[in-house]
Amino acid sequence: MKKLLSFTLAALMVLVCVFAFTSCGKKGKTLAEVKKAGELVVATSPDFEPFEYLDEGEKVIGIEVEILKKICEKLGVTLTLKQMDFDSVLPGVTAGKFDCGMSGITVTESRQKNMLFTDPYFVAAQAIVVKAGSAITGKADLDGKKVSVQTGTTAEEYCSENGYAVSAFAANSDAQTALLNGNVDAWVIDNLVGIAMVETYNRDKADSEKLVILSEKMTEEPYAFAFAFGSEDLVAEINKIQKAMIEDGTVAAIFAQFGEDYAVPASK
Ligand code: ARG
Repeated sequence: MKKLLSFTLAALMVLVCVFAFTSCGKKGKTLAEVKKAGELVVATSPDFEPFEYLDEGEKVIGIEVEILKKICEKLGVTLTLKQMDFDSVLPGVTAGKFDCGMSGITVTESRQKNMLFTDPYFVAAQAIVVKAGSAITGKADLDGKKVSVQTGTTAEEYCSENGYAVSAFAANSDAQTALLNGNVDAWVIDNLVGIAMVETYNRDKADSEKLVILSEKMTEEPYAFAFAFGSEDLVAEINKIQKAMIEDGTVAAIFAQFGEDYAVPASK
């Protein structure tokens, strides 16, 4: 009798654990839940031109906004954007505070342990930005140098792993200012965004005051949208829609709208 009791107790405990893992671990909404809610609530850090940034009217615009708008149209829901710093986007998604993360997010193995990603729709890279006349002309020159990055990004991870002296800032613009003020020797940022920010900054500057973006691509950054575990069927549906949008040229047209060339990512 005693044996039976302890066996029952043990079985109960296993059940409780399984339940805790399967239900509480999954914070993401299913496809049906999103459709029922009628909206996709998306966390974004709009300091990432041309992917998501603010126009003069403080409205969030960009390539990813257009892609997700079209995806939401197909799902029959509205796109609701919530603005925050990049380092709050991924924790907010995994905690189930938002349905999706949209921030030029790079898919990495370590992030995949904590969340789901759609298929990548584009592959970017990290690039180095320096001041005109800098002796740094490539990655090899960064050894022992001070670099600025945005907090919580793959740039921060990469630069820390490579042993550079890293200063991290919540806002990309502050990472840029650190370079301008001479507090760091270089600023590491995703290439297309670096190009856009440098272009804007250089517009009315004398050559000697300009920022320079180096052409060397330091990493591969496959961009995708992030979801919490539990959203598997939603992600599968979005992948289907996104694939069709890549194949029929919709995504390329969106890139062109923002003055960018588009290349379909090589499937791995
Ligand atoms: N691709 C990089 C990453 O995933 C940087 C993303 C920064 N995004 C932003 N909206 N500020 O870590």
